[in-house]
Amino acid sequence: MNITVIGTGYVGLVSGVCFAELGNQVICVDKDPEKIDLLNAGGIPIYEPGLKELAAANRVAGKLSFTTDLRNAVRRSDLIIVAVGTPPLPSGEANLAYIEQAALEIADAMNGYKIIAVKSTVPVGTNERLGSLMRGRTGMPFDSISLPEFLREGSAIQDTLHPDRIIIGADNPGAAEAMVELHRSLTEHVVVTDIRSAEMIKYASNAFLATKISFINEIANICEKVGADVTQVAEGMGYDKRIGPSFLKAGIGYGGSCFPKDTSALIQIAGHVDYEFKLLRSVVEVNQDQRFNVIRKLETIFNGELKGKTVAIWGLAFKPNTDDVRDSPALEIIQHLLDNGVKVRAYDPVAMANFRTLFGKEGVIWCDGALETAQGADALCLLTEWDEFAEIDLGELQTVLKRPILIDGRNVFKEENLIGTEFIYYSVGRPSLNQGVRQQVPVLLF
Ligand code: UDX
Repeated sequence: MNITVIGTGYVGLVSGVCFAELGNQVICVDKDPEKIDLLNAGGIPIYEPGLKELAAANRVAGKLSFTTDLRNAVRRSDLIIVAVGTPPLPSGEANLAYIEQAALEIADAMNGYKIIAVKSTVPVGTNERLGSLMRGRTGMPFDSISLPEFLREGSAIQDTLHPDRIIIGADNPGAAEAMVELHRSLTEHVVVTDIRSAEMIKYASNAFLATKISFINEIANICEKVGADVTQVAEGMGYDKRIGPSFLKAGIGYGGSCFPKDTSALIQIAGHVDYEFKLLRSVVEVNQDQRFNVIRKLETIFNGELKGKTVAIWGLAFKPNTDDVRDSPALEIIQHLLDNGVKVRAYDPVAMANFRTLFGKEGVIWCDGALETAQGADALCLLTEWDEFAEIDLGELQTVLKRPILIDGRNVFKEENLIGTEFIYYSVGRPSLNQGVRQQVPVLLF
């Protein structure tokens, strides 16, 4: 197919590159001329393993191009995929200004029948609203499709080329069939449904995954108090096919551009139809609190006296293999430490520049490597589970820290590797170690 993808953010860029890889002719459009220049020069504005190489191969093969000229791109395409951002407003609702603007620009550019597929995450009813906006601007025929995206940052290409399922929300069976055809080689699980249900599937999926994470984080918090090990609990739960093993990793809570935004938006969507989504409210609340799990442990270790201490932070991205720091737990954790008079030394293998820009404040000592960050610190907190941290030489780490205190917010380190060391080690939902020895929770009296 001849495809135009509007918006070269994570979803747009990865989709564009992958559709080209699948043999389609793809034009990616963005309003930002600097981004387009970078893409045309072979650069990639985000860190995503494998994306640069795949984009380059398809550009050289003449299947992929980048432009700011939306009008020309739309006129040359049969399918327009809209993947512009829907960032949260202060109320938590999705901001639809960019997508409405894109819809109007598409309408103004139309020169014949097109399929307009929306990949951006949008509240239920938005595709219909965009359709009527467009009909007010153009007499040209088109069909609207809701085509929600489920890719994860860090494994975006794999997720796009080998998705668990494809969801196609359509009113017109002909347009739906064209979309089925486009995705046929990717998966046997193609769900064709109505537009509103497709829009809902995206929110419901993200809300459910966020619920799993908050659930296991609360189980972890209880495990700490009763002397159980959440990783063992999650493994035991996960073999039950009805539960499944994924998204049961306890830690410092979810961040990123999707879960925080989409959970808030779904609470708002429910509110608009007079439904209070109590469960999801709690999921968000638990997630917010879980970020402070690391701080609470530091307070326990230092008897509430954080002022004047030096704390090293490993990991600023909201998860590994991305430079994305949007809603990363590290933002609030570091802010809290600074507010309490702590000297913070911080490092991330790829997300430093983005973090410094988003954080936007002075006071953090930015370091160039993992061991350098730990140098002279009273405690070290691991916030993102990059391989680089997991592979560190614990003996060497122990010698550079002022005190061998390690708070592992992602359960990266194994107890067996810490035995025999001097570490005071706290993780999430697992027994703590003192000088490498497991601390027993006192006999439980009920
Ligand atoms: C998510 C969805 O997975 C994806 O389908 C959707 O399209 C966009 O949002 P993403 O935000 O890229 O993708 O990352 P994901 O791997 O889902 O992780 C989200 C957050 O949850 C991260 O902060 C991660 O650290 C956290 N997480 C994930 C946990 O704390 N525990 C887990 O078991 C899994």
